[in-house]
Amino acid sequence: MPASLTQRSLQAVWHPCTQMQRAAHAPPLGMVRGEGPWLFDEAGRRYFDTSSSWWVNLFGHSDVGINNALKDQLDRLPHVMLAGCTHSPAVELAERLSQRTGHVLGHCFFGSDGASAVEIALKMSFHYWRNTGQADKTEFVCLRQSYHGETLGALAVTDVAVFRDAYDPLLMRAHLVMSPDARQAAPGETAADVAQRAVAALRTLFEMRAGHIAAIILEPLVQAATGMAMYDPIYLRQVRALCDAHEVLLIADEIAVGCGRTGTFFAFEQAALPGEAPIWPDLLCLSKGISGGYLPLSLVLSRPAIYAAFLDDDVARGFLHSHSYSGNALACRAALAVLDHFDSADVLQANRLRAAQFTQALARLYDDPRLEHFRQIGMIWAFDVREPFAGPRFAERFHLAGRVRELLIRPIGRTVYLMPPYVLDAPLSDWLAQQLRATLDDVFHQTPPGADRPSEPAVA
Ligand SMILES: Cc1ncc(COP(=O)(O)O)c(C=O)c1O
Repeated sequence: MPASLTQRSLQAVWHPCTQMQRAAHAPPLGMVRGEGPWLFDEAGRRYFDTSSSWWVNLFGHSDVGINNALKDQLDRLPHVMLAGCTHSPAVELAERLSQRTGHVLGHCFFGSDGASAVEIALKMSFHYWRNTGQADKTEFVCLRQSYHGETLGALAVTDVAVFRDAYDPLLMRAHLVMSPDARQAAPGETAADVAQRAVAALRTLFEMRAGHIAAIILEPLVQAATGMAMYDPIYLRQVRALCDAHEVLLIADEIAVGCGRTGTFFAFEQAALPGEAPIWPDLLCLSKGISGGYLPLSLVLSRPAIYAAFLDDDVARGFLHSHSYSGNALACRAALAVLDHFDSADVLQANRLRAAQFTQALARLYDDPRLEHFRQIGMIWAFDVREPFAGPRFAERFHLAGRVRELLIRPIGRTVYLMPPYVLDAPLSDWLAQQLRATLDDVFHQTPPGADRPSEPAVA
C-alpha cells in the first residue's frame, strides 16, 4: 500500500507551530479538497474548518468568485516585482482599502505574511522619527498577551513565553504594558473599568519615557493568538488620545481582526463612539483574511504625514524595505475578489444574523459549570475550560476528539474558540454547536492520557 500523505509528511515536512516529537500523537491530516467550510482528507473524511484555517479563510474553501478571479489573473500576469513596476490589482487594492478608511490612511506598502507587515510597521515608525528629527524615539510598546508574529521584530513585541523565550537574547527590548483583557475584571468592575486601568498604566509609561517612545502596537478589540482575549473599545479611543498627546505612533495590527471579523470591516472602526467622527491608527497592518485564505499577502496602510516624511533626494531617507513577492499580482487579485464580496452583498449585516444564530445555538453551554468567560464579538466565539476540568494536554485531547466529530478545532491552551468562515447558516450553526457539546463531553469523560504530565503551554 502506498504511504499516506500523513506518513510522507512526517518524513518530509517540518510542520509550523508543532513539537514534531508530539506530531505522531496528533498526526497531520492529509487534506485533499476544500469546499465551503469543509475540508476533506485522503480517506474521504470531512472536517468543519472551525478556525478558517488559522483565520485566513473568509468565504469558504474554493469560493467561485475568488477562483474565477485567480484563473483570469493567472492568464494575464501572475507576478511582477513591485519596484520599478506596478500592476492593476495592487493599485486597485491600495485605492479601495484607502477608500475604506475615508482616505485617512493610504500608500499601501505590501508584504507577504502577517509578520512581514509587522516588521514593516515597526521599521517605518522608527525611521519616521529619525527622518523628522526625533531620533531619540526608538522604543516600542506592546501589550501583555500580545501576539504579532514569529520573525525577530514581531517576536520582540509578542508576549507569549513559549514562542519567544528560546530567542529572547536575540530580541530588541520592548515595553510591556497591562492588557485590557476584560477577563481581569474584579467583582463589580466592568470591561470598560479594566480598559481604564490599562490606559492608566500606559499613561504612566508614556510620561516616564517621554520623548523616547516611537510607537505602540496593539491588536484592536481581540488579542487573538493568546486566547481570544476581548476588551472594551474605549481602550482604543483613549490610547489614540494618549498617542496624540505624547507624539507616539499607533500601530493597529488588524492581521487577525480585520476584514469584518469583529463586525466592522476594520476593527478600529469601533473605536469611535456611534455618531462621532471616526478614529484611525497611524499605521494599520492587514493580512490573513484579505486574500480570502488563498495566497500570502500582507500590507501596511499609513497616514500621509508618515509617507511624506520619507520623501527626499537622499535615497537612504526612503523606506527601502522589500520582499520578492511584495504585492504579488495573484494575491492582490484574490484580495480584490474578497472586497468584491464585501461590496456586492452586505456581508457585515449577514454576519450579524449568523452571529445571533450561532450564539443562540451555543446557549446550552453558557451555564455549564465546567466552562467560564463566554465571549463573542462579530464572528469570533470563545470560552475557557475551568482548570480542574481541562486536565493535562487539554488542547491536544480536544483537538483529537474534535476530529472524530468532524471538527477541525485547535484550542489555545484551555481556551476553546471558533472563528468560522462567513458561510455559516442556521442548520450548520445547530450542527456545529451540537458537535462542540459532544466533543466537550467526550473529553470530560476521558481519563486523560499522561495525567501525571504538566499542562501544555498555550499554542494556537
Ligand atoms: C495579530 C497577529 N499579528 C501577526 C500575525 C502573524 O501573521 P503570520 O502568521 O501570517 O506571519 C498573526 C498570526 O496569527 C496575528 O494573529
